[in-house]
Amino acid sequence: MDARLLIVSNRLPVTVTVEGGHPVVCPSVGGLATGLQAPHDRSGGLWIGWPGAVEGLTPEMRADVDRQLDAMRAIPICLSDREVTLFYEQVSNAVLWPICHDRIDRLPLHVEGWDVYESVNARFADAVAEHYRAGDLVWVHDYQLLRVPALLRERIPDARIGFFLHVPFPNPEIFFTLPNRHWLVEGMMGADLVGFHTRRYHGHFRAALRRLFSVEADNTGTVRWRSRRVKLGVFPISIDAADFASRAAAPEVTRKTKEYTSSSMKLLVGIDRLDYSKGIPRRLMALKRLLALHPEWRERVRLIQVAVPTRDRVDAYRRFRREVSSLVGQINGELASPTWTPIQYIHRSIPSDVLLALYRAADVMLVTPLRDGMNLVAKEFPAARIDDDGVLILSEFAGAADELTDAILVNPYDVDATAEAIHRALTMEAGERQHRMKRLRQTVQAFDVHRWASTFLEELAGMKNEE
Ligand code: G6P
Repeated sequence: MDARLLIVSNRLPVTVTVEGGHPVVCPSVGGLATGLQAPHDRSGGLWIGWPGAVEGLTPEMRADVDRQLDAMRAIPICLSDREVTLFYEQVSNAVLWPICHDRIDRLPLHVEGWDVYESVNARFADAVAEHYRAGDLVWVHDYQLLRVPALLRERIPDARIGFFLHVPFPNPEIFFTLPNRHWLVEGMMGADLVGFHTRRYHGHFRAALRRLFSVEADNTGTVRWRSRRVKLGVFPISIDAADFASRAAAPEVTRKTKEYTSSSMKLLVGIDRLDYSKGIPRRLMALKRLLALHPEWRERVRLIQVAVPTRDRVDAYRRFRREVSSLVGQINGELASPTWTPIQYIHRSIPSDVLLALYRAADVMLVTPLRDGMNLVAKEFPAARIDDDGVLILSEFAGAADELTDAILVNPYDVDATAEAIHRALTMEAGERQHRMKRLRQTVQAFDVHRWASTFLEELAGMKNEE
């Protein structure tokens, strides 16, 4: 029988909305939610996290939401406005996010809120401790909760605790710009098993441990840490590839795919959260360069760029939103004709059938982040290509590039080379396209999100706390 699993993530895998005066708690999609739903259901465990902004609800609505969460075995950690501002927006998303994505240029000049980061992390640890039963496995997720493993270890010394970092662990030279770098690493080292997406992030973390604490991992990735052993490992997250393929085959998706396809116009697609790590401005510049270097593509290619709004109360994101809108306007203004607009910019989230139809209709999918922990769009695209066609252009700085070597890999900082990669993708022979796509599909089918979760959990379950 599986051990009970306590999952701890900043967000619960739900979205709370109000419909017809009644609150509705809907399961959300996304890598973590999809990957952990099965272990959550199977183990009869709990999921502890923030349900999003529920402060505006009336007491009756709150009680209704609590009942629905309870039925999903979800334990809400409600954050006050001040906690949302300092823990979530400031420290997590204005400081740790840019550091983990190599963007110290995006840091605010004055950082406050580390005390609130600690106290919110302590509230998560308290909630776990309150519900913990001997034998449970605890799995803590991501950069918002770096301190939780150590805080939990103080409360339950014998617990088996796993921690997974969904963003890159940066090069130590960048990480060391954080004034409290020791304290953050100590937080993660409260776990028994610490997981990263790639060998590179794992290597950066080992280097940080060496330089901050003079400790080395042995050749099994195990570190002697105070009176315990901590194992470090590489577990690349993925998607539910079979589910994507079957949803992509739905008649409604097929109908929409035809609507988006035209024999006279090639389609490039980009789908991202509107985050400065995703490389959207350079991608737009690459399209502009393509049209300058290869003018034969004018009126014959268009880009649909979907940018899903995100973290829009954080300054750097607000500025970035203006930057992207203005660049789209400039390029379209310069190049469009009465019959053609090179960039169609969609700044909102789109329904899943539209997303799948865009994947299926794309001649070329552009996934060109400047830095990305993994990037699941790069895996969803081949999973949805049931016709074994289409070309993936993928940044070498996305974690996914380690596995998806049949994509055309690009350096997104090199705008001219990206423009040439688009040209190459648009002119690639059908035989080569299909060969590459088949191999990409095999890769995403072979290691899916269920294997990701079970591999991590089996490793954690097999660990003993040794003195
Ligand atoms: C990334 C992070 C997640 C986060 C997600 C959405 O994938 O690794 O932890 O939940 O972005 O961001 P948000 O700030 O809306 O939770």
